[in-house]
Amino acid sequence: MKKNRRQFLKNTTLAAIAVTASPLLSKAGTVKTKQLSTSKIQDDCNPLTQDYYGAGPFYTEDAPFSDDGVMISSDEVGTRLRLSGIIKNLDCTEIIPETILDIWHTNDAGEYDNVGYNLRRKIKSNSAGFYNFETILPGKYLNGSSYRPSHIHIKITTPGFSPFTTQLYFEGDTSISNDAAASITTGVYDASHRIISLIDNDGVLEGTWDVVVDGDGILGADDLHITNGMIYNVSPNPFTDKITINYGVFKSSKASVEIYNVQGQLIANIENKQLEADKYTAIWSPQKVMASGLYFCVLKINDLQVHYFKILKK
Ligand SMILES: [Fe+2]
Repeated sequence: MKKNRRQFLKNTTLAAIAVTASPLLSKAGTVKTKQLSTSKIQDDCNPLTQDYYGAGPFYTEDAPFSDDGVMISSDEVGTRLRLSGIIKNLDCTEIIPETILDIWHTNDAGEYDNVGYNLRRKIKSNSAGFYNFETILPGKYLNGSSYRPSHIHIKITTPGFSPFTTQLYFEGDTSISNDAAASITTGVYDASHRIISLIDNDGVLEGTWDVVVDGDGILGADDLHITNGMIYNVSPNPFTDKITINYGVFKSSKASVEIYNVQGQLIANIENKQLEADKYTAIWSPQKVMASGLYFCVLKINDLQVHYFKILKK
């Protein structure tokens, strides 16, 4: 296996917004959108580090799988949080599909469910190495005399390799500096690359966290397009007549935005063109005959699926 570690330091800043609409829409319109937050795209090859506290005492075996990445019911109290990223091998030349992320964290009040499986789910990276999950921002709890920062526990198992358990934190959390684990910035417990920034999109916090772990990947670097774009937001969701899709293209690429039903059939091709690195907005107004229910909004870059959102038509 290749172990040479390469550094990719390409912090891309995308600020301007371009506006696009599809000729295939049944009711398409050019829109002005509000300025999305400027985001720094994580693209460093930093192997995952252990957390000083390890798994902690609240891990429960046999958490259920979530096929769509949704960890919460609609009545779960708390700020919505959506995290996504890709799983890469140690030198970041390959992506690793079928990686299991076993996730657990506290509720908004800082409490673990130590009886059932609320806020405990397993998810799997897809065939492009990509993962996505939706939950709430974990509440803080006291550890001795001080609060632990908001954190998510993740046990990561790549096919054929030993599990790796660690914790994820969030930039700007005032409890990080006082936390014995989150404040470590060097050595085997270095948490600095596990403290991620979040973007507020209409009340939903969005974060990107790429995971670099030991494992055998499937694609060479030349085929690795999945760091080239993402969907930032779809709204409203659920939708009735119209849905707005905000997405970013990180390098000049052929980009397409498509809608699929749960059977995997293509319902609409909203966008399909060569785009420069920028943020874009598409509006889709489906025909009235379209059945209500679950659909998937997919972003493809150079014909490879890089990101999707579950959308619900009322
Ligand atoms: Fe914890």
